[in-house]
Amino acid sequence: IGSRRILVSGPGTGAETVLREIERACARYGGSVRRQSPPSGGERPAADRAGADTAPYDLALVLATEQALPVETAARADLRRHRGEGTGTLGEEGFALVRHGDVTTVLADQPGGLRYGLFHVVRLGESAFGPARQIEVHRPATRLRIANHWDNIDVHPVMGQVERGYAGGSIFWRDGALRRDLSRVGDYARLLAACGINAITVNNVNVHVTEAHLLTTRLGDVAAIADLVRPYGIRVHLSVNFASPVALGGLATADPLEQDVRAWWTETTRRVYETIPDFGGYVVKADSEGQPGPFAYGRSHADGANVLADALAPFGGVVHWRAFVYNHRQDWRDRSTDRARAAYDHFAPLDGQFRDNVILQVKHGPLDFQTREPVSPVIAAMPATRLAVEFQATQEYTGQQRHVCYLGPWWSELLRFAPWGANGDTVADVAANGGLVVVSNVGDDPFWTGHPLAQANLYAFGRLAWAPELDPAAVLDEWIDLTFVPSATSDPDLLRRTLHEVMDDSWRTYERYTAPLGVGFMVRPGNHYGPDVDGYEYTPWGTYHFADRDGVGVDRTRSSGTGFTGQYPSPWSDRYESLQDCPDELLLFFHHVPYGHVLRSGTTVIQHIYDTHFAGVEQVAETRRRWERVAGLVDPAVHARVTERLNEQLRSAQEWRDQVNTYFYRKSGVPDAHGRRIH
Ligand code: GCU
Repeated sequence: IGSRRILVSGPGTGAETVLREIERACARYGGSVRRQSPPSGGERPAADRAGADTAPYDLALVLATEQALPVETAARADLRRHRGEGTGTLGEEGFALVRHGDVTTVLADQPGGLRYGLFHVVRLGESAFGPARQIEVHRPATRLRIANHWDNIDVHPVMGQVERGYAGGSIFWRDGALRRDLSRVGDYARLLAACGINAITVNNVNVHVTEAHLLTTRLGDVAAIADLVRPYGIRVHLSVNFASPVALGGLATADPLEQDVRAWWTETTRRVYETIPDFGGYVVKADSEGQPGPFAYGRSHADGANVLADALAPFGGVVHWRAFVYNHRQDWRDRSTDRARAAYDHFAPLDGQFRDNVILQVKHGPLDFQTREPVSPVIAAMPATRLAVEFQATQEYTGQQRHVCYLGPWWSELLRFAPWGANGDTVADVAANGGLVVVSNVGDDPFWTGHPLAQANLYAFGRLAWAPELDPAAVLDEWIDLTFVPSATSDPDLLRRTLHEVMDDSWRTYERYTAPLGVGFMVRPGNHYGPDVDGYEYTPWGTYHFADRDGVGVDRTRSSGTGFTGQYPSPWSDRYESLQDCPDELLLFFHHVPYGHVLRSGTTVIQHIYDTHFAGVEQVAETRRRWERVAGLVDPAVHARVTERLNEQLRSAQEWRDQVNTYFYRKSGVPDAHGRRIH
């Protein structure tokens, strides 16, 4: 750009989008684009050139599909040699990057790879043009990397427009219709592609009446969104209501084994593909929190999912069938029911019964996106089923985008978790065959995510979904480079350092001042913000901590509890079962222990609760002091918004500390060993 000459060569929207990106950059930084059409007859692929016409430089960057590279180059020879060594194909989205002499080359098999290659070069910045680079091959770890939007067309009376949304209204919908100004959707697609995400759903998993019609009468709205995101390689999926044959089709039943019902799904799906040929598929929340499902007809979830899968199969579409199925109307007095067990109990017996284009979408933990949970045992229980793992960027239980909480380290830990022990497959390996899903945190807020620093979570999800082995601190570093302009002060690294100090450990800080040792919840029922230790204790939602004067925690052991530990394969079934071996951070998830129980860390449970809650608040106060230091180094509006959020975070953290510490002091009667103030 500017003084660099770039060649883009390849067919299709992939190459076209790259060229447009370069045009955009030229418009901003200088330079111009010259397009050269393919010779008539179309036998040779297009060779398009972009660069400053007058600049006296040779090519600095080449982005080309291998086939469309007009000349033989050292880079192409490298790729061929590499393939000979067993690299195989680069696939639809992969690319190779190599630098010889003064030329950096991105090669792809398919035009989609050029797009990711360009964004990679942008990420590398000047270092893409430094010393020679050995060939590197980049391919996504999994094909489906999806952002789910929990957006409603109408404003829901309780949940608002975006369910669990903390960033304003929907970017798609407004006043009961598709937004007239959809410019953010195009920008969003670009942003998603730049982080590595390649699909979206545009409506809430809880499909209300208006939104159910997106499948039929309002399909045009979905097509309009698909047109906007397609140039960035993003496919649109839709959340559908299982009872649609009744609600939309006027049938008497939605029984998946009824011929009429099958025919309705087949015909409806055919129309969807007629309108949107690259439509991705359906997402279904069935028999969950009041949504309809196959249980009403005495059918299994495999029966339910397969009927939709059969309708989608001829077009290459998939069904994401959610495993978030549990009894939300249980009696707290019934100690035999354990919500953590539910997904496994429902789905593990169905392994092998789902069609190939059914992807079971499993939340990463057995409960519900808590700050700390073990990995869901479903992930290790269904070898004959494609599984996608679901994460939540929208910070429902992690501070609602009022608290800084960089989730990269948490997700990285989950993706690296090895359910069968250190030498076995990881969660990321299991998901490779199904995909990774994130509940999006984006809305129409001026900063997109409410808290400007929450943008890093979406970025980190995309990067980790593409390459789960990445170091989350390095991913944060990329995000910092792409987001902030370095300052020309005496300490040019101050902003980066500060952002790392503020964000690297922010998830653990949040954990310290909220629910202790993996016990979960303790949030206010309904909106899930702020502390309420007993808030869920006696509700039908089935989440308990069982604190009394002697101890706290949920006994989920096989020997004396709900037996949940038995849902894990070895070695974790035994590690979690054992009071000595269970990791401290999950102790209260698996065990009910006396307050004086000594953790592996050497501290008692009650003293750990006090210590972490005091420390967590101190860390937030320190974070706020650090953020003050960088006033003047970031856009004043961003600085002000983050400052406002940090003030609220500090207030809220103090509230958490005081309620949790006081609660456990009153229950246990054990004073703080350091004599600090407990109310
Ligand atoms: C949580 C969340 C709901 C959401 C549900 C889901 O329970 O609070 O708002 O609908 O998860 O994932 O389906």
